[in-house]
Amino acid sequence: MRHGTKAQLSEMPRLLVYLDNTDCLNVVPSSLKIMSEWLRNIMRNLSVRRAVLGSVVFFLGLQANLSFAHGDVTPQAVNTDTLPQLGEGWREENPYRGDAEAIRVGDSAYNQNCARCHGLQAISGGMTPDLRKLNDPAEYIDIQESDQWFMTRVRHGAVIDGRVYMPPFEGILSQEAMWAIRAYLDTRKLDE
Ligand code: HEC
Repeated sequence: MRHGTKAQLSEMPRLLVYLDNTDCLNVVPSSLKIMSEWLRNIMRNLSVRRAVLGSVVFFLGLQANLSFAHGDVTPQAVNTDTLPQLGEGWREENPYRGDAEAIRVGDSAYNQNCARCHGLQAISGGMTPDLRKLNDPAEYIDIQESDQWFMTRVRHGAVIDGRVYMPPFEGILSQEAMWAIRAYLDTRKLDE
């Protein structure tokens, strides 16, 4: 190819390829109309690619969100093997009150399932009820009433007009895990 001559490549009929006077190889569309078409094609390809890439990123993001939400919402398995098993019937009162192992299990179960709403160490910060109040003698007639209210809420949650303020935990946490959490909450006093 001689300097300054323009040649049309048969494979790319719309492109002119030439060496200019500075020995640069130039590849240009053969007319302005073609040039704009060419640019539009590039843009279209780019946006298609971007759309595909975008949806992949979106999908991955969604997956990440779902697994995050999943990890967040689905309560963590609570191993209660080290506690006396309670069988089918629901107890009226905490069978583990004061039991060190139940408190240990309950502490961990609380952190995994309740702390995100009720606060670390049951210090609520005001957005949700402060569960240390379960031990406040001014709030309940006696500990049995407090236990029953605790179980009502934990089993059935707080679903008002279809809005889930607190999810039900029945079928998700075992009775053992629920009472273990209660045993842990007993150790949390309002003045701490
Ligand atoms: C998604 C947030 C959320 C999670 C998770 C959650 N709660 Fe709640 N809980 C709430 C809200 C909000 C209320 C107040 C509902 C109402 O207005 O009656 C509440 C109320 C309660 C009450 C009644 C307290 C009172 O003073 O009336 C108890 C007991 C309770 N929750 C225990 C638990 C336990 C135990 C767990 C973990 C197993 C837990 N909650 C997980 C949001 C949550």
